[in-house]
Amino acid sequence: MDLTTIWPLFGLELRTPRLVLRPTRDDDFPGLVDAAVAGVHDPAVMPFSAPWTDQDPQTLARELARWHWSHRAGTRPEDWTIIFTVLRDGVPIGAQDVSAKNFPVIREVSSGSWLTRSVHGRGLGKEMRAAVLSFAFDHLGATQAVSAAAEWNASSLGVSRALGYVDDGIQPVEARAGEVTMHQRVRLTADAFVRPPWRLDTSGVAAARSFLGL
Ligand SMILES: CC(C)(COP(=O)(O)OP(=O)(O)OC[C@H]1O[C@@H](n2cnc3c(N)ncnc32)[C@H](O)[C@@H]1OP(=O)(O)O)[C@@H](O)C(=O)NCCC(=O)NCCS
Repeated sequence: MDLTTIWPLFGLELRTPRLVLRPTRDDDFPGLVDAAVAGVHDPAVMPFSAPWTDQDPQTLARELARWHWSHRAGTRPEDWTIIFTVLRDGVPIGAQDVSAKNFPVIREVSSGSWLTRSVHGRGLGKEMRAAVLSFAFDHLGATQAVSAAAEWNASSLGVSRALGYVDDGIQPVEARAGEVTMHQRVRLTADAFVRPPWRLDTSGVAAARSFLGL
């Protein structure tokens, strides 16, 4: 039996004009860690709800691997998170995740992402989010997508607004110990998705659907 028969998500691939997204493989860790250690955001602020980018490189590397492995191992039809490594010209530049609970009934996905700082502001964040939205709406049958970002996070909220999400309330998050940041929740319905001018190219969708119980 080959690896993609054992774990069909390893056969899944999403392709956009500039990017390839594939569920993280162990071989992606060195490149992903390099991309994260090179810097993901201004260290003065913390965009994430868990401050994983504050760690020293050795700890960050191990925790990044642990995070990806734990989500991979926990993925079942009733509760799943697919963390895609985002590659440009074959090099990991960040990660884009998509997750859902009770998806066959609820049909809602949530997403999160990061890119190494040197490539911010070139439309790549929008391109990778559009990729997982196209995958979720067109290939999995999602009807809603949600996300959230710190109220000051203009780039993440910029991606969301450019793709058609609308505000969906705020929530306080303890981003760094003892520090509360207000996060803006956003929501997108399938019919409001501002589609990119390209069509998503995919491999391995049928096997992934079956693995997710669809
Ligand atoms: C969030 C992130 C993935 C966005 O990716 P990006 O490649 O920098 O963003 P893009 O270039 O695709 O921008 C997409 C949209 O947001 C807008 N935007 C981007 N940066 C912006 C900024 N600083 N201020 C205002 N708008 C901004 C762009 O104009 C674009 O909208 P448009 O298509 O209508 O012009 C990336 O900046 C990142 O990794 N940030 C650090 C980690 C992080 O914050 N992750 C999210 C945690 S919730």
